[in-house]
Amino acid sequence: MSVTGCCSCLPNSFVLRFAPQIAEFCGVDELARSLYLNVLFIGDVVGRPGRTALRHLLPSLKDETDADLAIVNGENAAAGYGITEGTLAELLEAGADCVTTGNHVWAQKEAYKLADREPRLLRPANYPSGAPGRGAGIYEARNGVRVGVLNLLGRVFMAALDCPFRRGDEELEALRAECDVVIVDFHAEATSEKRAYGEYVDGRVAAVIGTHTHVQTADEQVLAGGTAFITDCGMTGPSDSIIGVDKKVIVQRFLTGLPAKFEVPKRADSVLDAVVVDCDEATGTARNITRICRSHPSGEEASGDQR
Ligand SMILES: [Fe+2]
Ligand SMILES: [Fe+2]
Repeated sequence: MSVTGCCSCLPNSFVLRFAPQIAEFCGVDELARSLYLNVLFIGDVVGRPGRTALRHLLPSLKDETDADLAIVNGENAAAGYGITEGTLAELLEAGADCVTTGNHVWAQKEAYKLADREPRLLRPANYPSGAPGRGAGIYEARNGVRVGVLNLLGRVFMAALDCPFRRGDEELEALRAECDVVIVDFHAEATSEKRAYGEYVDGRVAAVIGTHTHVQTADEQVLAGGTAFITDCGMTGPSDSIIGVDKKVIVQRFLTGLPAKFEVPKRADSVLDAVVVDCDEATGTARNITRICRSHPSGEEASGDQR
């Protein structure tokens, strides 16, 4: 009888307590695997094509990566701008355990109330006090580990919010008191600001994952102190586009300097960009970070799949 995979849903405390028995009956590999904490992070989901790709790809990706927790950036989920109750529900239904956002979080009016009442939705923590919602949360991974997620917004070439470094420290202190592993979504434009934040918290969090540019960078690494880092995770949305938006509109905007409404196609071949971080809950750092890029042809959508 095969027992491979039988322990992956058990709490680590249980696995540690019965480690000798698990090693004997299930094998050392299974014991080691059951102690891993794999966090899957999906880059900004853009519009309906992004939501469709997520719905089709996330369940198998979670299986393939043996993910214990899935975090999805949903700041562009509603037609490219912000997030609504319906689009958040789609992301959660697809398998997201926590949805982070960024500078577009307030683009849809209903996000104000949604951020207040839905604990699985985060907005950047460094919005000045009084902003709706929360910038950090704690979520239970499949293996029972409590994972803190912190969402921050950079300030270079972006709106001047509170300092993400200092505000982040306040949130980290609270998170570290209640959980062993913290993942940060640092939503920012400038590569230098993202890397600087990664170095600033190196060794204090398991991962700093950059978002916002919608272009996946090839610099994933574990920093000297043990924090996994990538400048930008990328996006989940139309591939034949300019960062998810209709390319003709954007080119025209650059040619004329005139404002134009950004359009996201309702149906398009899409990419899903992600990273998976292998976390060490004993140290609160990371062992490894792996970049993922998948495609989802729009032709694969079933006829009843036109939400
Ligand atoms: Fe975005
Ligand atoms: Fe953004």
